[in-house]
Amino acid sequence: MYLKHLSLTKFRNYQSADVVFEPGINLLVGRNGQGKTNLVEAIRYLSILRSHRVAGYLPMINENSSSALIRAIAVVDQREALLEVELHRTAANRARINKGDLPKLRDILGLVNSVIFAPEDLDIVKRDPSNRRDFVDELVVQVWPRFAGVFSDYDRVLKQRNSLLKSARQTKTTGSALATLDAWDASLAKYGSEIIEARLDLIGRLTPHVERAYKSIASSNNQPSIDVKSSILGDGVRSFFDDDADASDLLESVAGLTRAELEEKFHVKLAQIRQKELERGLTLIGPQRDDLLFKLGSLPVKGYASHGESWSFALALRLASVDLLRAETKTGDPILILDDVFAELDAERRTRLADLVLDNEQVFITAAVAEDVPAVLKAKPYFVTAGQISLEPSAGGLTKLTSGDQDA
Ligand SMILES: Nc1ncnc2c1ncn2[C@@H]1O[C@H](COP(=O)(O)OP(=O)(O)OP(=O)(O)O)[C@@H](O)[C@H]1O
Ligand SMILES: [Mg+2]
Repeated sequence: MYLKHLSLTKFRNYQSADVVFEPGINLLVGRNGQGKTNLVEAIRYLSILRSHRVAGYLPMINENSSSALIRAIAVVDQREALLEVELHRTAANRARINKGDLPKLRDILGLVNSVIFAPEDLDIVKRDPSNRRDFVDELVVQVWPRFAGVFSDYDRVLKQRNSLLKSARQTKTTGSALATLDAWDASLAKYGSEIIEARLDLIGRLTPHVERAYKSIASSNNQPSIDVKSSILGDGVRSFFDDDADASDLLESVAGLTRAELEEKFHVKLAQIRQKELERGLTLIGPQRDDLLFKLGSLPVKGYASHGESWSFALALRLASVDLLRAETKTGDPILILDDVFAELDAERRTRLADLVLDNEQVFITAAVAEDVPAVLKAKPYFVTAGQISLEPSAGGLTKLTSGDQDA
């Protein structure tokens, strides 16, 4: 699939921008802070209804506006669809396809698939579990859009259960309040095990692609692997109770477990830790506490791999995501976004990455300095200046450049 047309209204620093894109490589060039990442963030929002930079959507609405509009024409197998998403500060956000209102915002998922690669991706391999959960969940939602509903059901149950636990702790409630807790336990285990199963399934499908991608990037014999580890197993309670940020070592692999087994184990564990949860006033297990374990050979990537290996692993995850979406969805090649990636690479890696992305149906590349981007990717540059996009380097930008007040 590809995007043929994108228009942004009151989105971030865009007052009103309208641009036609083409299949193949689209290069966005502009100095720092002009709106390159904002533009790809809008594309990303159409595909996962989340920003890759912030939690929540409010920062995406222009600071002087009460709402923002992202509008795009997506082309799948030569058929066009007009997609619109409205973000509102105070009212409910809305989505439309071909001018028809969708009952739920999330009904727009599955139409625009995308994969973004950015320097912050190193966080996926190096930093806390939430980065890895987001990585897998964003793919789950793109491969099986109905999971957006499961995530939202789970979040709702988790919130209600937490507030019940919190008030039970404050009031030292027992008896009937605890009967309500049993009901929430059942929903938590039901939706939670669905999510864990989906992550397992997704990682199972992704892994062969990661193996292939890692070989093509790193030319090393180290075998990459990914394990899904969960708090519904294992001896995590002590650590969760202490709210230790790195409780991942205490999680256990759920590989090979069926949905029914996951749900059963979830129940057993909830019963075991009920007292702790009541003392703590918080849900202590579930997919919101789980993690992925990335390994190269026998060693974890986090804490052991070199900087170069970590970078290669992160890139392999993204390239594998492209292959996975191509294989598992009806929309074919996802849109591939490379945000600010080339500046970080040496010449050899630049060329290699260019070769790897060149054949994707549509690619967006952002760069502050066009010289950082290999020549084969420079066919069609767009110039981004202060929330405006043009096919010519803008007069405003040039004036500023010659007057010597450009950013670093
Ligand atoms: N809600 C908003 N309203 C108005 N302006 C915003 C809003 N959110 C972000 N901006 C502005 O957008 C600019 C950032 O744009 P963006 O991140 O797209 O830059 P960029 O071109 O990717 O730069 P870099 O090359 O440094 O990555 C900042 O100047 C910021 O102040
Ligand atoms: Mg940027």
